[in-house]
Amino acid sequence: MIHQSEMPTLILGGTGKTGRRLEERLTVLGKPVRIGSRSGRPPFDWNDEATWEQALDGVGAAYISYYPDLAVPGAADAVGAFARLAVRNGVKRLVLLSGRGEEEAQRAEQAVQDSGADWTILRCSWFCQNFSESFLLDALNAGVVALPVSEVKEPFIDADDIADAAVASLTKDGHIGQLYEMTGPRLLTFAEAIGEIGKASGRDIRYVQINPREFDAMLVEQQLPAEFVGLLNELFTQVLDGRNSYLTDGVERALGRKPTDFSDYVRDAAATGVWGGVK
Ligand SMILES: NC(=O)c1ccc[n+]([C@@H]2O[C@H](COP(=O)([O-])OP(=O)(O)OC[C@H]3O[C@@H](n4cnc5c(N)ncnc54)[C@H](OP(=O)(O)O)[C@@H]3O)[C@@H](O)[C@H]2O)c1
Repeated sequence: MIHQSEMPTLILGGTGKTGRRLEERLTVLGKPVRIGSRSGRPPFDWNDEATWEQALDGVGAAYISYYPDLAVPGAADAVGAFARLAVRNGVKRLVLLSGRGEEEAQRAEQAVQDSGADWTILRCSWFCQNFSESFLLDALNAGVVALPVSEVKEPFIDADDIADAAVASLTKDGHIGQLYEMTGPRLLTFAEAIGEIGKASGRDIRYVQINPREFDAMLVEQQLPAEFVGLLNELFTQVLDGRNSYLTDGVERALGRKPTDFSDYVRDAAATGVWGGVK
C-alpha cells in the first residue's frame, strides 16, 4: 500500500503566485505534485464541479488556493464543498490559503475547519507579488499607479514566505489545526510601496489617489472583466479601510524566522528587470 506522504499533493492554483512557488519547493524536496488548475492534467476548474473528483483521485493532501478571490460571494460554499469532497475521497490533509478581514474568506476557513479535514490555514495579508506578477504591474510599467486608497497602511507579505509556510505545513509535524495569520514585518502605504519600487528600479513612478468611481471607469477602459472591476473596487475601498493595518506573528509561528521585508522583495524583483530600469 502506498503511504499518504508518497502520494502527490494537489496544488490548486498551482501555476499562480503561491502555488507555483509551492510546486517548485515540493519538487526540489522530491515530493510528487499535481497541479490543480484549468491547465492541469487532469484539469481542475472551480466553476465546474465535475472536474474536482478526478483531480483528487490518488492524492495524499491538497493546498487550496481559490480563484479569483475568497472575498467573492459563493467562494466559501465552493471551498467548503471541495473540502468535504476531499475528505470523502480520503484526502484529509488540507492547507487553505486565506485572506484577512474578509467575511467570505473567514466563512471559507470555517467550512474547511468543519469538513473533518486535518487542516492548516494560512490567513495572509496583501501579497508583495501583486506589484510584480499581477494587476499592478502594467500601471507600474506605465509610470503612473492610480488607486482609490490614501494613507491606509498594509503589511505586504512575500509569496515566498507563504510557500515556505505551506511546505512546512505539508511536510512537517505540528501544523495540523493551526491558523497562521501571516503578514510582512512592516506597514506601508501604497504610495510608500510604489516609491520604494521606483527607487529600486531607477524609474520615476507616480502614485495618484482617485475616487472609487474613477477607479471603476479606469478598469472598464482597461477592459477588465466586470467581475474583476467589482472585486478590485471592493478590496480597495472596503477591505483596505485600516482593519488590517497591524502586524502579526504567523510567519514566526509557522517557520521560526522573521518574515521577508518589502525592501528585500523589491530589491530582488527589481534585479529581474520586471519593472524595467536597472537590470
Ligand atoms: N493576491 C493577494 O494579495 C491575496 C492576499 C490574501 C489572500 N489571497 C487569496 O489567494 C488566492 C489566490 O489569489 P492570487 O491573487 O494569488 O491568484 P493566483 O494564484 O495567482 O491565480 C492564478 C491561478 O489560478 C488558476 N485559475 C484561474 N482560474 C481558475 C479556475 N476557474 N479554476 C481553477 N483554477 C483557476 C490559474 O491557473 P489556470 O489559468 O491554469 O487555471 C493559476 O494557477 C485567492 O483565493 C485570494 O483570496 C490573495
